[in-house]
Amino acid sequence: MDLSKRIDRAMTNAITQAQGAGDAAPGRLAAALNYAVTPGGARIRPTICLSVARACGDDRPALSDRAATALELIHCASLVHDDLPAFDDADFRRGKPTVHLAFSEPLAVLTGDSLIIAAFDTLAGADDADALRALRLVRLLARHTGMPHGICAGQGWESEAKVDLGAYHRSKTAALFVAATQMGALAAGHEPEPWEELGARIGEAFQVADDLRDALYSEADLGKPAGQDAMHQRPSAVEEYGVQGAIKHLQDILSGAIASIPSCPGEGQLAQLVRLYAERMTPVAPARV
Ligand code: IPE
Ligand code: IPE
Ligand code: MG
Ligand code: MG
Repeated sequence: MDLSKRIDRAMTNAITQAQGAGDAAPGRLAAALNYAVTPGGARIRPTICLSVARACGDDRPALSDRAATALELIHCASLVHDDLPAFDDADFRRGKPTVHLAFSEPLAVLTGDSLIIAAFDTLAGADDADALRALRLVRLLARHTGMPHGICAGQGWESEAKVDLGAYHRSKTAALFVAATQMGALAAGHEPEPWEELGARIGEAFQVADDLRDALYSEADLGKPAGQDAMHQRPSAVEEYGVQGAIKHLQDILSGAIASIPSCPGEGQLAQLVRLYAERMTPVAPARV
């Protein structure tokens, strides 16, 4: 089965389980959960997770699916919370109204909370035979999601007077990419540590590319508001290096990514995937310069 079908099926299972059966759970919150994860966006994190698992032999595909799903659930939760008025106050996400506009602010807070819990529940539901790997996956996901170095820390930097751009990007965005490579390896029985650099490089490049798109593209191109970093005076790669400098920085980061792939049975195929992402990430023909 191709990776996107595996991700789709596993995400549907997780959301169906979180929604509960019949009228036993609040219907609007149940609908908001589904709204927050569909349509799915690029699903780059679960795709990287399953690609690494496959490169490492993928001997427990059901566990890899759980790892990929948990990552995507956390990512979707982070977007729902990030769009709230208390953070970026964004009206559009993936080409449609954000969860707090389509439902309400309380339901958006609860949607994010429920998705985070569903992520950990997905890992905790692994087969008994996979319990040890599942427990290590829980710890990895927690490390890259919370404080002191995960997404929560990243968003927390926005409330500090002085921000180091590298630390901000590493925790806000790269952490979940490190989780993606490391969880893919671990789900397939490989040690996660050697996979840190690849995830960190893809993640940092991804955020630089996102900063460039935010500065250069329109809301119609992005399916979410543009020009947000300047509007909210957020630290960004474009502010720090300028457009050309940020593109050069992006290329420098990615050129080391392929070299950092640990030796494994599917190394060649994985290198191909990273090359493809590198091509897609580099902005071309910017709409607003
Ligand atoms: C957007 O992530 C948020 C950032 C960390 C820059 P994605 O660009 O992966 O969002 P979707 O899931 O494809 O919508
Ligand atoms: C979002 O960062 C990162 C997280 C949700 C943790 P941004 O605020 O820069 O991303 P977009 O532009 O809203 O997708
Ligand atoms: Mg934000
Ligand atoms: Mg935002």
